[in-house]
Amino acid sequence: MQITLSSPLDMHLHLRDGDMLRLTAPLSADFAGAVIMPNLVPPVSTPEMMQAYAERIESAMGGADFTRYMTLFFTPLSEAQLDAAAAAPGFFGFKLYPAGITTNSEGGLRDFADAEPTLRAMEERGIPLLVHGESHGFVMDREAEFLATYRALATRFPKLKLCMEHITTAAAVQLLDEFPNICATVTLQHLLITLNDVAGGALKPHLFCKPIAKRPEDKEALLSAALGGHPRLFFGSDSAPHPQHKKECCGCAAGVFTAPVALPALAQLFAEHGALDKLQGFVSGNACRHYGLAPVEKIVTLRDTPMQVPAAYRSFGQTVVPMFAGEELGWSVAH
Ligand code: NCD
Ligand code: ZN
Ligand code: ZN
Repeated sequence: MQITLSSPLDMHLHLRDGDMLRLTAPLSADFAGAVIMPNLVPPVSTPEMMQAYAERIESAMGGADFTRYMTLFFTPLSEAQLDAAAAAPGFFGFKLYPAGITTNSEGGLRDFADAEPTLRAMEERGIPLLVHGESHGFVMDREAEFLATYRALATRFPKLKLCMEHITTAAAVQLLDEFPNICATVTLQHLLITLNDVAGGALKPHLFCKPIAKRPEDKEALLSAALGGHPRLFFGSDSAPHPQHKKECCGCAAGVFTAPVALPALAQLFAEHGALDKLQGFVSGNACRHYGLAPVEKIVTLRDTPMQVPAAYRSFGQTVVPMFAGEELGWSVAH
């Protein structure tokens, strides 16, 4: 069996910077492009920083055809600042982090009231707002608690292009159905695992991410929305590489590194459920339609010949452990 995908996109990708960028960029290049997250240290918060980062990504990609959809770290901005951002080449939208909610988000938003004028101006300009939607509550309830904020934003700013990033709950899928002006991304791991896989037996640090994987019924709801071809649900890997020593330690960093295994694992998952016909929409078509994107043309063929996933990827003095490290996947990218 095989499937040919046209310009697969990853709508939520962390590439990091420096040597980690040089390691992870080529490992993400099976995709035709990606929405690049801005949570560097310091965060990518000005058009100048964004353009410089886009150039570092391009050089780390080593000539691969790859469309970079760049994001800026959301802070309240004037209309002139928004116009400057929107005019910067490669700009896609703003990524909003509640302060302190995840990796490198200390400079995030403390009070949504402060954001209202900026959100109004973004709505008028059609600038997308991508949100890490979690409260600071009990870890299993953080996303569910944040849904009230999504609801308020979608109601107060009905034309705002609002995206719930990396959704993990059945309740978020329900909200997606309720508000046609909201879209969402979902990761590979949240279609495959629950909290049991992370912490039900021996602790699996490489499956620990924010938001944490939830209950079986949540996974089932996410999976049925993805396999059912929900038109406003997009693949966003949230591939979030951390050095091996920051994962295999006391105080494990949050993030699952999936970039090099994402397309084979998705093909395997969709094939197992007899839903390969929905994969093109999930990894590209839905997002292109929703946002009006035209990524570089790249044809990617996936086959049901096994992929041996390495125990780790090593280059430039960096070591990072992928999801499925040391395991065999049933599908692979035909190179
Ligand atoms: C991400 C990271 O490491 O940058 N970590 C994660 O667990 N998902 C940040 C994020 O997407 O929240
Ligand atoms: Zn996040
Ligand atoms: Zn992320």
